[in-house]
Amino acid sequence: MNPEVRSLIPGCDALLHGGDYNPDQWLGEPEVIDEDFRLFDAAGVNTLSVGIFAWSRLEPADGVYEFEWLDLILDRLAAAGKNVILATPSGARPLWLAQKYPEVLRTDRKGIRDTPTERHNHCWSSPVYRRKVREINTRLAERYGRHPAVKLWHVSNELSGECLCERCTGGFHDWLKARYGTLEAVNAAHWTDFWAHRYSDWSQINPRDFVLDGLTLDWRRYASWQLTDFYAWESEPLRRLSPGAPVLTNLMGLFEWVDYHALARQLDIVAEDSYPGYQADNADIAAQAVETGFKFDLLRCLKGEPRAWFLMESCIDGNSVWKPLHLKPPGLHHLEMFQALAHGADGTLYFQWRKGRGGVEKYHGAVLNHTHAEETRSFKEVAALGRRYERVKAVIGSLNRAEVAVLFDWESRWAYRAARGLPKNDGAMLVRHAAEQYEPFWRRGITVDVLASAFDFSRHRLVVVPRLYLIQPGFGARMRAYVEAGGWAVFTGLTGMVNESNLCWRDGCPGDGLEELTGVWMEEVGECFPGKELRIDAVDGNSLELRLEGGVARGIYTRVHARDAEVLARYTSGWVAGTPALCTRACGAGRTFYLAADADRAGGLDLIYEAILRARGIAGFLPDGGLLPAGVTAQVREAEGVSYAFLLNFTGAAVRLPLFQRSGCDLETGAALTDSPTELAPWGAKILTLTP
Ligand code: GAL
Repeated sequence: MNPEVRSLIPGCDALLHGGDYNPDQWLGEPEVIDEDFRLFDAAGVNTLSVGIFAWSRLEPADGVYEFEWLDLILDRLAAAGKNVILATPSGARPLWLAQKYPEVLRTDRKGIRDTPTERHNHCWSSPVYRRKVREINTRLAERYGRHPAVKLWHVSNELSGECLCERCTGGFHDWLKARYGTLEAVNAAHWTDFWAHRYSDWSQINPRDFVLDGLTLDWRRYASWQLTDFYAWESEPLRRLSPGAPVLTNLMGLFEWVDYHALARQLDIVAEDSYPGYQADNADIAAQAVETGFKFDLLRCLKGEPRAWFLMESCIDGNSVWKPLHLKPPGLHHLEMFQALAHGADGTLYFQWRKGRGGVEKYHGAVLNHTHAEETRSFKEVAALGRRYERVKAVIGSLNRAEVAVLFDWESRWAYRAARGLPKNDGAMLVRHAAEQYEPFWRRGITVDVLASAFDFSRHRLVVVPRLYLIQPGFGARMRAYVEAGGWAVFTGLTGMVNESNLCWRDGCPGDGLEELTGVWMEEVGECFPGKELRIDAVDGNSLELRLEGGVARGIYTRVHARDAEVLARYTSGWVAGTPALCTRACGAGRTFYLAADADRAGGLDLIYEAILRARGIAGFLPDGGLLPAGVTAQVREAEGVSYAFLLNFTGAAVRLPLFQRSGCDLETGAALTDSPTELAPWGAKILTLTP
């Protein structure tokens, strides 16, 4: 087993299987807790997250602590051989705390202080809140830091949000002072001569003022940093008093407002909450699966290089209460869990072990329903998954290894969001676009690392840069060095518009040397509204041997000039007809591509990537580089001398997949592979052990 994985839960050689366990909601009903303990083993559950929202049970009044109930639970879990992920409770504050210290409440953009409702709602800089969190965490760590059941620490819950109280905005001014040194430097970075916004005093810098998009970007940076700083501060007693137990928090994948690359530097292990809301009756469920795969590949690489991670929350039956209710047909739940494993996860947990009787999540999917405990479909599916995990645990320690990287940055999203005058400026657009560029790889079973632009991509043979709007300092030079040394890079339209201050580049567009590198100058950007799609066709005799006829561009189009590049395809309709849609340029030992059009995913885009992959000699799961059947992907994890191919069928129909004389066996059944195609059931997932 890979030593990396041992560190997920030291000494545990099983895939993590379990969920959020809230005995604090059942303290008056000991028979319910007895039933939990009776059923953990029956469900094959080995890991439970405890205490996430238990603060008012742990500290019922200021300075009054009651740990006895938790002592009993943790001792019982230890005796039952379960792993505990012990939570700090700061995600939901007791009501008495806000009543007694109103300063802990968050202040919104209109300057109104919140009332003590809901959760995830505290002021990040309140000294009282920091003190109270530090106190409870210290007591938890003192009491349980070396408890035999406690294997990991779960800090807070789904960190998010901003506070605009005077203390937080004052903190913003201090943060700006540290970043820029002088007010003059901030004036330059925020372009404050626009609409007479020149600052003459730090106190005038108001994060509510959206007209300076450099200011908005800096506020986003600060708000994300503030939360990351809180996490680090909150973790301190755990690290001090519980040495060796990894500390983490549950992430929300592509959540827009926290820079997870920065937060990940503080995490020992990446843990994710994933609720893709798969809809079996959606003809394009594969598009949802692609976006989830993209997200998982980002999480696997969140700390710079591939690492084992796990799913901390997910929904068994499809009822996650805050999304449209799409119950999952049999099979889909296992497929969703295997999808996480396929992308490098070493375990999957649920929200939640047992449904509460009240509160807005009482109907949320759970292992145990309100009645008929082990008789339900959910329970049986969970128990069956536990048995499957036992059979496939050999995958622990293997990891996905990629030749292809896709770059994705949070700051670029924030910068684009703050801009006006660019198309479809909503939060999800950049994610959708990046996932579309990722899809041709997913459909061929080609592994992709999703990396921050600041990470090292030099060992990847192909790097895709989808609409990287903001270019970080040094990126242009690193990209040039990569390409000159033999790398291939694909840039899509609107890459390289602004620098790290959200100021437009003046040295070309794309800027920071990318215009010279690609040989392409981008002049204009427009939108293909429905019914106004643009046609694109390959240029006869193009050097990529791209055969694209009647491709369709939807979404954004950019009008570019091929200054020093070969035009591979052109727009052939609309007033832009004749201008380049796809260009390429050789540079040193490598090559760049500039994709000016959002080619339609079904036709044009896939053919473009097929031609690039063929020319680059990157093969897919099928030896001819061809597409897997629609809705099917293969993701491969590798270990020494063996690889594990996860075959995932995101369709409600059975599929047969040719294996082209591969040797190996089905990891679950042990059946040797033959020359006949392998069968995947509707919503089926299987793992093949492939030997060279
Ligand atoms: C998550 C949250 C859980 C629970 C779950 C419901 O975002 O962390 O506490 O609320 O959603 O789907």
